[in-house]
Amino acid sequence: MKVIQILGSLAALLLCFACGDGTLQQEPVRRSGQADVVSLDDDWRFIRYGLQADGTRVEEPAGMFETGVDDSGWEKLDVPHDFAITGPFRMDLSGNTGRLPYQGIGWYRKTFTVDKADQGKRFYVDFDGVMAYAKVWLNGEYVGTWPYGYNSFRLDLTPFIKVGEPNVLAVRTDTEKWESRWYPGAGIYRHVWLVKTGQVHVKHWGTKMEAENLTARTADLHFTVEVENHLDEAAKAVVKTSVYELDSLDCLGKRVLRFDDQTLELPSQGSGKVDMQKTLDDCKRWDIESPNRYMACVTVQVDGKETDRYYTPFGVREISVSREGFFLNGRRVEIKGVCNHHDLGALGAAFNMSALERQFRIMQEMGCNSIRTSHNPPAPEVLELADKKGILIMDEAFDAWASGKREWDYNKLYEEWHRKDLEALVRRDWNHPSVVFWSIGNEVMEQQNVEMTKHLVDIVKSLDKTRPVTNGYNDPNGGRASGASMALDVMGVNYFFYEQARWDADERYKNKPTIGTETSSCLSTRGVYFMGDTLRKDYQITSYDKDAPGWGCTPDRQFATNFQFPHLLGEYVWTGFDYLGEPTPFNSDNTNLLNFRTDPSKRAELEKQLAELERTQPPSRSSYFGIVDLAGFPKDRYYLYQSHWRPDLPMAHILPHWNWEGREGQIIPVHVYTSGTEAELFVNGKSYGRKVKEAGKDFRLVWDSVVYQPGCVKVVAYKDGKQWAEDEVQTTGKAQKIRLSADRASVAGCEDELAFVTVTIVDGSGRKVPTACLPLKVEVTGCGELVATDNGDPTSFTPFQSAGRESFNGLALAIVRGKKGAAGKMQVQVSGAGLESASLEIEVK
Ligand code: GAL
Repeated sequence: MKVIQILGSLAALLLCFACGDGTLQQEPVRRSGQADVVSLDDDWRFIRYGLQADGTRVEEPAGMFETGVDDSGWEKLDVPHDFAITGPFRMDLSGNTGRLPYQGIGWYRKTFTVDKADQGKRFYVDFDGVMAYAKVWLNGEYVGTWPYGYNSFRLDLTPFIKVGEPNVLAVRTDTEKWESRWYPGAGIYRHVWLVKTGQVHVKHWGTKMEAENLTARTADLHFTVEVENHLDEAAKAVVKTSVYELDSLDCLGKRVLRFDDQTLELPSQGSGKVDMQKTLDDCKRWDIESPNRYMACVTVQVDGKETDRYYTPFGVREISVSREGFFLNGRRVEIKGVCNHHDLGALGAAFNMSALERQFRIMQEMGCNSIRTSHNPPAPEVLELADKKGILIMDEAFDAWASGKREWDYNKLYEEWHRKDLEALVRRDWNHPSVVFWSIGNEVMEQQNVEMTKHLVDIVKSLDKTRPVTNGYNDPNGGRASGASMALDVMGVNYFFYEQARWDADERYKNKPTIGTETSSCLSTRGVYFMGDTLRKDYQITSYDKDAPGWGCTPDRQFATNFQFPHLLGEYVWTGFDYLGEPTPFNSDNTNLLNFRTDPSKRAELEKQLAELERTQPPSRSSYFGIVDLAGFPKDRYYLYQSHWRPDLPMAHILPHWNWEGREGQIIPVHVYTSGTEAELFVNGKSYGRKVKEAGKDFRLVWDSVVYQPGCVKVVAYKDGKQWAEDEVQTTGKAQKIRLSADRASVAGCEDELAFVTVTIVDGSGRKVPTACLPLKVEVTGCGELVATDNGDPTSFTPFQSAGRESFNGLALAIVRGKKGAAGKMQVQVSGAGLESASLEIEVK
């Protein structure tokens, strides 16, 4: 038995070790691209100039990039870092950008040394994203810039680097003249990498894998590799490529294919490209249900010596679009998608993998199969994780082209940068099987401009012809009438599906594949319910899921539209998660007027509402659109989507809660979301009768005349005549105790891994008290520390870093991590006056 085990693990080990042209790879592959890569995330020094968090200004001294600058007094930190998320929230700042002081100038400096053994190599720095107008210096010399804060970019450090001595990398970020219509964050908010290569190496994002002629068992792999020669003489490079299976831990499995070696004659300071083709047998397709991946490992050799090694993860899958829908591997897949902005709630824009994994888990559990990266290039890890988890991605480039929606929008960059930005996005992401649509824009001002649309589509197509290109229209009629949308493979419609019947009847448009790039925009606050006609009160919005701005609609209405037009490719709900900024309808900002560019009466109505808001100064700082709140707690709507998107999952969900002291004898409407087709409601044992859903018409069951008496509401749902699912809500006792649960039992002692601890206020019998809004205190001792707290309340001005946090409708969140390099245990304690406190232990490894 033991021998078998040893042999088994040895085999696994050997598989994990094989790489490239047969030499060994010992670790899971960390990152696509060049293999010789070092993280530059740790040990930066940071200082803020220009606009400060409190609104004052500190003059920016000249020469902050010089080597001799004394930065010993600057803040010590690691990136990803968002310097605005510490706030404070300020009423004088725009709700649209989260009332957070994101405008300012950041200086970051880091000292690093490269080994003498690396003498003669080339050195690049890869920034996954810097907000915004990044300028970079090495050892006092200017290296380069990349203004668009959402894109990834590489700069060449080779001319300035000193080998075997300390190097000073200085980065200036500037968000003083940068705006998004949401919270953008500020600073070096994604990962940074030092990349080392020989003088002859694969170009940045220089490999492209395309799978062609797919059969049930085989696929022709078409692989191109671009190689650069930085020598002052011609070079003969040999490119060797092997393809391996890639497991979910990013370890290489068995080699499944070896391309013939390719020889490239490269002129001095020139480049070349090899093009290879070979059939992959026994091919395992990438699909949303089985996200199989492969890895192409390339080595470049000159005179028999390896000068570069490059990883290209990919998946083999077939996609197509037609009037009949979106097809993945020949099967129609309805897009059940959400739009998400890039912020991670209490963590701000600073990228974190644990937070992203949590978001994806919550979305997939709901039945979501696709994400639109509204409205900008996402962190590279979004695509990597989507590849692993089987999520389809609409990869979006811009929210503005040459005309801005804000004063300091992308319009300032468009002319000089749009080609570079769009190319960077496509080249970075073209090997991801998860990316199934490119989007060149969202509600851009020039959506009727045929030439611009064609021009941007052409840029994409010149690089990648395998994916459909779309654009999100809030004026689909204008886009269609002008002919601009004809340049697209897929017509992207934001909110206007009620006109679909007319478009379908029109010869010109009826065969155009169409998708809801944005839908619904339903508004709600978790756990808040208003009766009667009241939908909004005290800057909160009812969770009966009936409210939406003028351009939006309830999820139910959208489902009915989708049902009526089954040829639509599907929808991207605005939004999966609440996000920082844009607290419509309480944002006292007129950006949304842009939605009604063509409808003067709606504009006038909205202008009036906004004038009123301007006067009353709403305190809201984050959105109400999310199906899930900012802290990651599902709102009721989550179960409405789940009931519709996962019809085979037996589930039922009752709303509202049943703690209505003082409303005895009054009517409290009860709504039920279920994947069943009918259901019976009982209140304290008394039946309120069965209700049946009419297919395509009803998506919730409503009992409008339930009279409140404390006790228990129970629903029994049926499907095809058989009992299917149940749910029950009970009137609880008073808040007595705190209950804690963490999303993981252990974390690694490094910054990247976080644990999310849910704090629930319960009564004496352990039932969640759904109305409990009570002050709490979080303490983390031992090997861990507190990163942030939240509760999902869009009007809370408590800083996210605060250990003091109110529960909001029974829940709060504490985000914790292990201390850097520590191993042992951390204790998370949460206490509150009059409550039995609770503690929980998490292992730090
Ligand atoms: C859309 C816009 C989104 C968001 C949304 C709110 O028109 O594209 O970015 O603003 O409205 O409903």
